[in-house]
Amino acid sequence: MKTTLRPVRDGFTSPFGVLVATLGSAVGLGNIWKFPSLTGTNGGASFLLVYLAATMLVGLPVMIAETMLGRTARADAVTTFEKLAPRGQGWWKIAGWMGFAGSLLILAFYSEVAGWVYAYIFKSLAGEIATTDPAVARAAFGGMVSSPVQALFWQWVVMAVTGSIIMLGVARGIEAVTRRLMPLLFGLLLVLCVRSLTLPGAMQGLVFLFRPDFSKITPVVALTALGLAFFKLSLGMGVMLTYGSYFRDTQNIPATATRVMMADLAVSLLAGIAIFPAVFSFGFEPAAGPSLVFMIVPAVFAAMPGGRVFMTIFFVLTAVASVGAMLSLLEMPVALLSERYGLGRSKAAAWAIAAVLLMGAPAALSQSLTAHLTLFGLNPFDLFDFLSSNVLLPLGGIMICLFVGWVFGLPQLELRLSNEGRLANAGLVRVVFLLVRYVAPLLIAIVLLNGLNLF
Ligand code: TRP
Repeated sequence: MKTTLRPVRDGFTSPFGVLVATLGSAVGLGNIWKFPSLTGTNGGASFLLVYLAATMLVGLPVMIAETMLGRTARADAVTTFEKLAPRGQGWWKIAGWMGFAGSLLILAFYSEVAGWVYAYIFKSLAGEIATTDPAVARAAFGGMVSSPVQALFWQWVVMAVTGSIIMLGVARGIEAVTRRLMPLLFGLLLVLCVRSLTLPGAMQGLVFLFRPDFSKITPVVALTALGLAFFKLSLGMGVMLTYGSYFRDTQNIPATATRVMMADLAVSLLAGIAIFPAVFSFGFEPAAGPSLVFMIVPAVFAAMPGGRVFMTIFFVLTAVASVGAMLSLLEMPVALLSERYGLGRSKAAAWAIAAVLLMGAPAALSQSLTAHLTLFGLNPFDLFDFLSSNVLLPLGGIMICLFVGWVFGLPQLELRLSNEGRLANAGLVRVVFLLVRYVAPLLIAIVLLNGLNLF
């Protein structure tokens, strides 16, 4: 017998491994930080409905298309476009490079928010944020984010944790860790939901979350929902593409994407159920925006019996959620650097982490040393968020849709999504194709123009 010397490409080892890792990427601060605060500021249930529509019409088909590209080429994002584009159309690989830049940019500010969450676990344990006075909570938050040492320290901790897992590899790092963290996440969320729902006056929060007020649906609300669907499902950055390249040949991609989308939605809803009834029960303002998680939530927990324990659980759970998302964001550039340039995985990870820390420092210091460094009136933190979420993400999304819808084409898509004819899903694939060819790029283009304030 001859043994092959070609190294086997790292990848996920089981259908469940694919599911938890991909879900781990989707679930993150987007669910627990962005989703509740946006639902709060955009009219509750009506926002939820629009979000659902956006997820079904755009999010799901793009997720299917993106993971399919990765599995077809079995390569990093840049190489995937290079391999799959027709002769003379090498420029499609720009989409891969945009994803590279976008992933690092997102990590630069995302790691800082995750750092605040890590810090809040300890502050909560120490009772430092156990105050029902929003003013005191605000001062505690302000004190942390405006301290350069604290801001940088926690960002470095976050990147050290994420980096050490990435260095272990796809199966032994990402899959092994998300396999343990995802069940933990659901468990902790359920505990918080029970606590929140058994508070007096909890009903009001549920009504807010689930009874739609259709007068609140405006074009801006719809666009916000669509942008959120993209961010929450980790789309448009080549991140899902990279994960798709680790899927098994027998993985049913449309079914997996649907499960990830539903489970991601479940986490968001549970986060809403854990937060809003409590917010109403203690008479706080649901429309507090991004500060909701760091200023209102501690105050809400401090006001309830056993609050310190539940507050700690809340921040542990948020930290847990952020891990899987950051692993996927870091895996994208690491896969690119290690496969395309033949760097070892550890070396590639070291370079990517160095880039994140270098770009992340100005973002972390946005409330202190770099607050005056503004471009278009945005400090580095907001600028990175804007550039990645409002520019690179929709642009990448459009390119993926146009590539699959107009270059890759229906026969290829049918072949790939049916696992070479082994799955009978031709009707479904046709729907995905039409959405990716026409509906999604159009809607994303509108989001892009709106995000650039061109309307
Ligand atoms: N989806 C993650 C969240 O909800 C964030 C995230 C991970 C992401 N990977 C991404 C966003 C890729 C955009 C692109 O927090």
